[in-house]
Amino acid sequence: MSVSPEDFRFVSAFVRDAAAIVLESGKEYLVETRLGPVAERSGLDGIPSLVRELRRDRHGALARAVVDAMTTNETSFFRDVGPYQHLRQSVIPALIDARRADKRLSIWCAAASSGQEPYSLAMLLREHFPQLESWTVQFIATDISQAMLARCRNGVYSQLEVNRGLPAPLLVKYFQKKGLDWQVDERLRNWIEWREFNLVGRAWNSLPKFDLVLLRNVMIYFDVETKRGILANMRRVLRPDGYLFLGTAETTVNVDEGFQPESAHSSCFRQRAA
Ligand SMILES: C[S@@+](CC[C@H](N)C(=O)[O-])C[C@H]1O[C@@H](n2cnc3c(N)ncnc32)[C@H](O)[C@@H]1O
Repeated sequence: MSVSPEDFRFVSAFVRDAAAIVLESGKEYLVETRLGPVAERSGLDGIPSLVRELRRDRHGALARAVVDAMTTNETSFFRDVGPYQHLRQSVIPALIDARRADKRLSIWCAAASSGQEPYSLAMLLREHFPQLESWTVQFIATDISQAMLARCRNGVYSQLEVNRGLPAPLLVKYFQKKGLDWQVDERLRNWIEWREFNLVGRAWNSLPKFDLVLLRNVMIYFDVETKRGILANMRRVLRPDGYLFLGTAETTVNVDEGFQPESAHSSCFRQRAA
């Protein structure tokens, strides 16, 4: 199933508008491989018909399915290890100390994908900071993809997925066998509030203030202006003494000088004092 140059231009502009995802020329194969199955599932006889439908209705179920299909959802439990060590050894203890008077913490995983990242953090908190059980911890995890959010809420992972980064003792403690797969403990599933959220949408005002935000491995798909807009919004929702984690290949340097890398750890960022 091949995509014509005109249809590719349309799809690129559509996903850039809808989700800020940049599809440079040369990525035609991505459109072909990802939208072919969407066309088939929607009863359309190929990408040209899908594009015709999309031109007609840019906000309906097909449009959402196209955005879903064009997101890249690569993730794993305890991805990159280092940030989780830093959270455990330094960031969470500092936040517990700073918030000990009102015993409240708010956390946001802003590109949750299929849920391995928020569940990793939830397990880390349960394992190493039992005192938080008596705190009010608001834990929100969001993604633009409805399909990914459905997976997050279900919390079901294949053997292959749990083999990627999840230590065996945590598998035994926090998961139940479900057929050939594994399902996360109901208490963790219900603890996290799963929401659809577009980082380039208009719903930033609906968010509370956060002490800790994980915005990892999503801005790599965006151009610099989009990154600037997101980081400017982030400064409004992150408390002045809060922590922002980006992916290991991402930075705020030369993008938003309101943030600076925490010297000890390059993927952790703090706001500069005003
Ligand atoms: C590569 S995954 C990163 C998952 C996880 N944070 C990690 O580091 O392992 C990127 C996620 O960002 C989401 N995403 C892409 N564009 C988005 C947007 N405009 N708003 C919110 N989420 C978006 C995708 O759906 C995908 O699940």
